[in-house]
Amino acid sequence: MVGAGRLGSSLVKGMLRAGLPKESIFLSDKDPEKRKAVEKLGVRVSENNVSLARSSDVIFLAVKPKELDGVLDEIKGVLGEKLLISPVAGVPMGKIEEKLRGAKIVRLMPNLACAVGEGVMVYSLSPAVDESEREMVESLFAKLGLPIEVREDQMDVVTGLSGSGPAYFSLVIQALVEGAEELGMRREEALRLASQTAKGTGEMLLKLGLKPDELKKMVSSPGGTTEAGLRELERAKVFEAFKKALTAAVERAKELGSG
Ligand SMILES: NC(=O)c1ccc[n+]([C@@H]2O[C@H](COP(=O)([O-])OP(=O)(O)OC[C@H]3O[C@@H](n4cnc5c(N)ncnc54)[C@H](OP(=O)(O)O)[C@@H]3O)[C@@H](O)[C@H]2O)c1
Repeated sequence: MVGAGRLGSSLVKGMLRAGLPKESIFLSDKDPEKRKAVEKLGVRVSENNVSLARSSDVIFLAVKPKELDGVLDEIKGVLGEKLLISPVAGVPMGKIEEKLRGAKIVRLMPNLACAVGEGVMVYSLSPAVDESEREMVESLFAKLGLPIEVREDQMDVVTGLSGSGPAYFSLVIQALVEGAEELGMRREEALRLASQTAKGTGEMLLKLGLKPDELKKMVSSPGGTTEAGLRELERAKVFEAFKKALTAAVERAKELGSG
């Protein structure tokens, strides 16, 4: 794992939680504070990306888009047949291939819920990745959440949807918690209620195969409380606002890729 920031450390926490041995994980970061924080996890830590790349079979590049080129230049001499996994928002595999012709690249868009085994692990493969390697990455991603293979041209939308998604759902939860607190509920209690409600809603959609609209109707009896709440959201154009947020995130992903 090159980069022990928010995503790199979440991926490593998810891997450890899923039972991957500590000794199989090697992390590098140029920031000594970040290294100190992840050393506590008991994994091997270094500031040297080249020695990390040399002693790893699978290399995750959990660095910012503007840092990617520098890291690729550093490690390209020792890559050989190793698998490169890039979760870098907006950067197409073709851009990496320009530098590393014929490299085995997995473009991944995870989200931070990978730390608790509940991520969405969306990926595309470069032509050099073979079937056994595909099976290997899919089973690794399955330990961190739901693995889904997509065509690469879907990746910017995926980035805006499931990559950024935990922030959108957190905003909804935050608003509900603040509202409940203002109406006299204890903050921690409201947070538990709202978080479990978000989780339960997702589980119902996934496990019962319901459509969101069907679920909305199931909760809303005519003239009831939910209907009153939804009417207010409609007035505030919340539905349109979420669609605009998604579009803005996707546009930003495209900009990052072309920058
Ligand atoms: N956060 C998310 O929810 C999320 C979700 C999906 C995908 N991603 C993608 O994941 C990547 C990382 O995002 P992040 O949120 O984890 O960013 P971050 O918290 O800034 O982490 C990046 C880490 O990499 C370190 N770094 C920078 N250059 C390096 C180098 N040359 N060698 C080794 N380490 C280096 C940074 O150190 P310094 O701080 O000292 O620069 C930082 O600790 C991004 O490309 C992002 O698009 C993030």
